[in-house]
Amino acid sequence: MKLILIWLKNWIKYPLVLGAVLPTQKFASDLMASEVDGKINTVVELGAGTGQITNSILKKGIKEENLILVEINKEFSKILKDKFPKAQIYSEDVITFLENFEKRFNKRIDLIISGIPLVSLNKNIRNKLCELSVDNLSEFGKFFQITYFIRCSFPNEVIKKYNLSKKLKGFTPFNIPPAFIWKIYK
Ligand SMILES: C[S@@+](CC[C@H](N)C(=O)[O-])C[C@H]1O[C@@H](n2cnc3c(N)ncnc32)[C@H](O)[C@@H]1O
Repeated sequence: MKLILIWLKNWIKYPLVLGAVLPTQKFASDLMASEVDGKINTVVELGAGTGQITNSILKKGIKEENLILVEINKEFSKILKDKFPKAQIYSEDVITFLENFEKRFNKRIDLIISGIPLVSLNKNIRNKLCELSVDNLSEFGKFFQITYFIRCSFPNEVIKKYNLSKKLKGFTPFNIPPAFIWKIYK
């Protein structure tokens, strides 16, 4: 209950940055983590919030110390640090994180799981975020995005530019708001 109140307080302050009136619920979180398995090397969650999708990712067998979480909101980042003390948590803007990824980690990302509200961003920032994500993906890398509209919020022009594929991975009405999960892959 306390987490929901913290979420609502932040949603009132930063509605466009949070993008959803409540944290993602279990069914949608499980869909977002549906292609995680213990054999994947590098999983990054963008916009981890208070860690609902993170719980689903960890249930699929990723070791906490191998999981990389990015969250701009300082209060949420502290909650993430308390809940997942061994995870690698970056409390910074996702663009900064992606720009520095290769320098910091010297590897590619196999799976990006994004709760970032892409529709709230201006077109240039959205394209930059998506292009940087693709640049950091490994050969068979995948990008999962949650949206609250049927339309995929990952830009078509980036999909075309990088010759990517996209697929509606799932939809659930059992989420507030109802959620669509898109998969973008090489
Ligand atoms: C729709 S919420 C999803 C939160 C969580 N993953 C969940 O499903 O409950 C979006 C999250 O992205 C974070 N966020 C938004 N813009 C961001 C940015 N530019 N860099 C890092 N995090 C950002 C917000 O603070 C918020 O926690």
